[in-house]
Amino acid sequence: MNLAYHLFVCNNQKDEIGKDVARALKIEIKKQGLKSLLVGGVKHKTRVQTCNCLDVCKHCKKGPGAAVIVYPEGTLYGDVRPKDAADIVQNHLADGRVVKRLLLD
Ligand code: FES
Repeated sequence: MNLAYHLFVCNNQKDEIGKDVARALKIEIKKQGLKSLLVGGVKHKTRVQTCNCLDVCKHCKKGPGAAVIVYPEGTLYGDVRPKDAADIVQNHLADGRVVKRLLLD
């Protein structure tokens, strides 16, 4: 399977928010019609899944949100909440622009 984007959401320290963020991202991806994309004429899927730890735990301790990494770029977002899903999907996945306010330093 070819992937256009693969998103991992940490649910190690905050199980519920991680699941909620992953769910919100999946809903938003579907809503914005980005579940599969044509890249160079080949169908690529966008996948979201939860994971145990992204090794940015000090950021997970701050704020109520979850850490998210977006591949293939490896962009790390922190303190992501379900309400941020639309911004990530619209800006990053659809337009290729990082969501600066959520970037981890
Ligand atoms: S606990 Fe979230 S990155 Fe490690």
